[in-house]
Amino acid sequence: MHADSWALKAKKHGLRSRAVFKLEEILSRTKALKKNSLVLDIGSAPGGWSELVKASTPSSNIYAIDLLPMDPIEGVHFFQEDILNVDEIKDIFLLKSKFNLVISDLAPNLTGIRAVDEENIFELNIITLRVAVNYLCKSNGAFIMKSFQNSMLKKLRIEMENNFNLVQTYKPAASKSKSGEIYLYGEMPK
Ligand SMILES: C[S@@+](CC[C@H](N)C(=O)[O-])C[C@H]1O[C@@H](n2cnc3c(N)ncnc32)[C@H](O)[C@@H]1O
Repeated sequence: MHADSWALKAKKHGLRSRAVFKLEEILSRTKALKKNSLVLDIGSAPGGWSELVKASTPSSNIYAIDLLPMDPIEGVHFFQEDILNVDEIKDIFLLKSKFNLVISDLAPNLTGIRAVDEENIFELNIITLRVAVNYLCKSNGAFIMKSFQNSMLKKLRIEMENNFNLVQTYKPAASKSKSGEIYLYGEMPK
């Protein structure tokens, strides 16, 4: 399907974003979302991913963070905050080491200067990875994070491999091929 067709499909189904189809594909391939999960959605606005998780597993408990506001979703606890300050959100901090799934669709604002953008993406990915490691349950946690194909990706993957038992890369069909966007998946030991 052409990239723009995903946006049309999202609109037709009343979904908040075309990003929903990317997460849907990754979840169907990894089986990372189970019933009754505790889920942290980082960079959640406008809310497509949170809405998908809630619709797929209504018994899951979802916490979502974004710099931007997000229209409410029933059963989703949303905090308008920078991911850098996640430890200051008491409701989330109390759940440290308890999350079953952390999902991140974060992307920094791009400057157009390749070296700067690659460094900013890497830095944001490393911050997100640290948050995931701190907040995931050590026995059965899973992590899905957006990144980009660039000169820092190998270094990022090594960091993932240092923290997760299994690491995989996904390029969902709904992801524009020219964007270089990819998703890294990490699983804690069972
Ligand atoms: C591609 S959008 C997420 C789309 C979402 N997954 C969906 O399906 O609706 C990326 C989001 O990351 C957020 N973001 C970027 N940097 C952030 C930061 N440092 N802390 C929190 N959110 C951030 C942006 O505000 C933006 O809403």
